[in-house]
Amino acid sequence: MKNLPHVPSRKIFANSKRILQNPLPFHRENFDKLGDTFRISIPGEGKVIFSRDPAWVKQILQKQHRAFEKSKLQTKDLAKYIGKGLLTAEGEHWRKHRKMIQPAFNASHVQRLLPIIQSTIQQELEKIERDVPQDVHALMGDLAFQVVAKSLFSKSDISATMHRLKEITEINQNMLVREMRRPYLTWWFDLTGQTRKHLDFSKEAQDLLNLLIEKRSRDGGTGEDLLDVLLAATYEDGAPMPRRQLIDEVMILFTAGHETTANALAFTLYFIAQDEQLQKRLVGEVETFYASDGLENLSKMEWIISTIKEAMRIFPPVYVIDRVSLEKTEVAGTVLEKGTLVLLSIFELHRTKSFWEEPERFEPQRFLDKDMKQLGGYYYPFGAGPRMCIGNTFAHYEMVLAIAEILKRFKISAFMDAVEINPLITLKPKEVKLIFSERSA
Ligand code: HEM
Repeated sequence: MKNLPHVPSRKIFANSKRILQNPLPFHRENFDKLGDTFRISIPGEGKVIFSRDPAWVKQILQKQHRAFEKSKLQTKDLAKYIGKGLLTAEGEHWRKHRKMIQPAFNASHVQRLLPIIQSTIQQELEKIERDVPQDVHALMGDLAFQVVAKSLFSKSDISATMHRLKEITEINQNMLVREMRRPYLTWWFDLTGQTRKHLDFSKEAQDLLNLLIEKRSRDGGTGEDLLDVLLAATYEDGAPMPRRQLIDEVMILFTAGHETTANALAFTLYFIAQDEQLQKRLVGEVETFYASDGLENLSKMEWIISTIKEAMRIFPPVYVIDRVSLEKTEVAGTVLEKGTLVLLSIFELHRTKSFWEEPERFEPQRFLDKDMKQLGGYYYPFGAGPRMCIGNTFAHYEMVLAIAEILKRFKISAFMDAVEINPLITLKPKEVKLIFSERSA
């Protein structure tokens, strides 16, 4: 590790204000100066390695995944508010639940959910006001939340509960961001009762979900939504998931599944609105493949698919993936001590100059020219290895459907020339304002 180029702590202190606002330019400067992997001393964290080297990403997430686990940011800080489920659990607990929940997210099951996802998107689009600037990130946030909600609780009347659940998810995420950005104030958050207050919100969310699950267990379901699949799932010994665990898993699906998708959709719409030619091409695809029957032809809309992929290349919602070494381990010729935090920059990997031609340019065509295998190690919006996003097929269909439904109805126009990013737990846009006008107009 000592051989890796190093960023001294004084440089971090000197740059702390801008790092707090947006750490990505600081990461870029160091990568460009020091190479694809460097180490840094972060006060309170000890030694941290940053890498955008595809060999590191591949080894840590795939080949040597057993030698690593997620950092405490996910397993403790996030778990405190959203519980111990797929996203935040580790070891045997994670393994047995991943095995149990995976079938609910297999392509064949997600395809059965498509009519629910489609009708939820259609309902959400009814809310869009025509011909005035709209905050697309907020709209896509509501849409993505409702899609997860309806995919879990298809027939239930859940609007009031979901409204509160979304509020709590957002309030608690803001608290988590405050805690992450000012770890030295933890004692103050505890002393002033702020931590307790937010833990109470989490308890309220768990109680709300418990009521919905209770009702479903009592009344029975139709077997068609995600909750039915989760209720029917069993461990290897045939036992069902305990209620407490089920609540945590449902809470985690909301958290992991809505903001990431909302970010990707907002960025995708921003790019579409910037480029009239591209928009025309996508509308053509919608008219050819989607306007009449639709759901069978989603995979034929390859320009829409490439546009979404390219938006996630430039702005990957999960822009950094964190792992901690469980033992002394060698990665790409460097020996890591046990307990080393490694931050894999997906944002930087997606802009590697030696692989992506003109990486800063938005160009969906590149995904038509290359298939995913050729991207070998340079494109990871959904992570990789055993902890790869369980919802990736779900998100893919949801996003293709959302873009197709939007373009079927609206012409979208840019209202701003550039988008500012807001890298928090996920990479969000600060604001994306677009104008939606009736397509027939
Ligand atoms: C564009 C949308 C999405 C993106 C970019 C995304 C990205 C990711 C990434 C990169 C990971 C791996 C994190 C790591 O290795 O540390 C992940 C994990 C996860 N995602 Fe997604 N995700 C998206 C949508 C969804 C949806 C729609 C769901 C569910 C409805 C979901 C559920 C999960 C869960 C449960 C995990 C944890 C899996 C495990 O560790 O076993 N995600 N996601």
